[in-house]
Amino acid sequence: MGQIYRFDTIDSTNRIAKELAEEGAMHGTAVITNQQTGGRGRLGKRWESVSGKGLYCSIIVRPDILIERYAQITMVAGLAVAKVMDKCSSVKCKLKWPNDVFLDDRKCGGILCESSSLAAGYEAPYAVVGIGLNVNSSLLEFPLELRGTVTSLAIENGKSFEIDSLFTQVREQLLMELMEFSENGFSNILKQWKERDLLYGRQMECVGFDGSIIEGVALGPDSEGQLHLRDSDGREHAVLSGDVRLARKEKRHSE
Ligand code: BTN
Repeated sequence: MGQIYRFDTIDSTNRIAKELAEEGAMHGTAVITNQQTGGRGRLGKRWESVSGKGLYCSIIVRPDILIERYAQITMVAGLAVAKVMDKCSSVKCKLKWPNDVFLDDRKCGGILCESSSLAAGYEAPYAVVGIGLNVNSSLLEFPLELRGTVTSLAIENGKSFEIDSLFTQVREQLLMELMEFSENGFSNILKQWKERDLLYGRQMECVGFDGSIIEGVALGPDSEGQLHLRDSDGREHAVLSGDVRLARKEKRHSE
């Protein structure tokens, strides 16, 4: 199932995992650390890694799927993490498209998938699934500006969790979901993902790469993994990427 590389402090598990993948590391190889000094988030954001209090890992995967399907790995990974969290947490884990893990309308984790070149003919494609989960951190351990929007498993459940055991379960579950994906396609994964959709039916806004904002009601992701929303004129939009958030009037704790 691939080796596990353990660190105390590194800049980013995704950076190390990408290096290992480029050197040929096999499916399932993982990097885990207690602390990151340069944790990377989506859209160039920084990921805050409270030392020793969270799960910070990256898993190299080489699923037997078409290159065009690689973009869907993020959602497969989200489902895997949510299932593991539900086994140990009394608060149902929700997913915010495409890659955020939520408990009680607050962000508890995120997933950053980075792929090899996906050009046709590329010989050894891979994806690095980077997972950051707030496990045992208290609110005061987060930077002030995040305290209104984040949570941890411990905050929600009033007890602490074994980080290494979560890592083992997340890795196993991810590899199982990827097997299901490669054998049976995306539809069953999508169905389960939709049951946890944080945004469905809620008023949201999406900021495009050009800075334009589309507002509408979230309709959920489609079979390609693209999010759809309906604006106030009844027009449907497919969102490829970009920043998605609850609209200001709807917003409670979420970013
Ligand atoms: C996001 O919410 O934007 C995604 C955050 C992903 C953070 C994890 S922590 C482990 C791995 N290494 C990184 O540098 N980032 C991911």
